[in-house]
Amino acid sequence: MAGHRPVAVIIGATGGIGRAVADGLADRYTLWLAGRDEAALKTMAAAMPDACHWTIDLAAPEDTGVVVPGELTSVDLLVHCAGVFERDTIHDMPERKWREVFAVNLFGVVEVTRNLLPGLRAAQGRVIVVNSTVVTGAPAGRAAYAASKQALRVFAEALHTEELGNGVRVTSIYPGRVATGMQRAVRRTEGGPFQPDRYLAPESVASAVFSVLSAPPDAHLTEFVLQPVWHRE
Ligand SMILES: NC(=O)c1ccc[n+]([C@@H]2O[C@H](COP(=O)([O-])OP(=O)(O)OC[C@H]3O[C@@H](n4cnc5c(N)ncnc54)[C@H](OP(=O)(O)O)[C@@H]3O)[C@@H](O)[C@H]2O)c1
Repeated sequence: MAGHRPVAVIIGATGGIGRAVADGLADRYTLWLAGRDEAALKTMAAAMPDACHWTIDLAAPEDTGVVVPGELTSVDLLVHCAGVFERDTIHDMPERKWREVFAVNLFGVVEVTRNLLPGLRAAQGRVIVVNSTVVTGAPAGRAAYAASKQALRVFAEALHTEELGNGVRVTSIYPGRVATGMQRAVRRTEGGPFQPDRYLAPESVASAVFSVLSAPPDAHLTEFVLQPVWHRE
């Protein structure tokens, strides 16, 4: 029955990973599909049993503010799947680009989470942050992206420490390359072909989200690292 469903908010629901997470939760949750593409979100929501949309541009909270829909007084699950990638050397990337990457990958995540914390605390909910294995290195040409994801890691770990006493549990998922629009763009900047069979499927990252949710009540998966099976010979 729709009224008894737990509530999940998916940020970046129109993306490759966000959509796979939404599809996998649609039968069990009341979904709030969040992102900046209102038309796409509406279409997605209409095709799901119990879903609505929340239009929010993570890059421009100073214009619109984070206006949490009034219905979101209790949030069982918040999944952060939005993100942007930019490739350039430190020498060539202008400050504006650094700010754009951090606006979406860090500050937008912080602001949305902060505004949803009352609802998360009310439901003793979970926050799942899709990060990246890029945090394990300092790759040339990807400094802004990697730095934003490092900062996101610290944010999620601090949130975990601060909110555990309030019953809110936080998990970071660190995937390697995933076959989505973002990876297609990454490969373009690398000058290489898009080879989805060599990357994780977005559904595989979604399955990590579902594993976190199905952990026994006394166990908290704090981190989840996923790599594609394909290895260069
Ligand atoms: N793909 C990979 O290889 C890979 C690997 C490791 C980690 N990740 C991480 O996984 C997450 C999901 O990425 P993905 O692969 O699913 O990429 P994707 O298909 O490009 O999806 C990105 C999502 O972020 C949303 N977004 C971008 N800018 C936004 C903004 N200003 N406000 C609101 N939403 C915004 C996009 O919305 P629009 O539809 O409006 O553009 C889209 O829904 C990201 O955090 C990414 O860094 C990806």
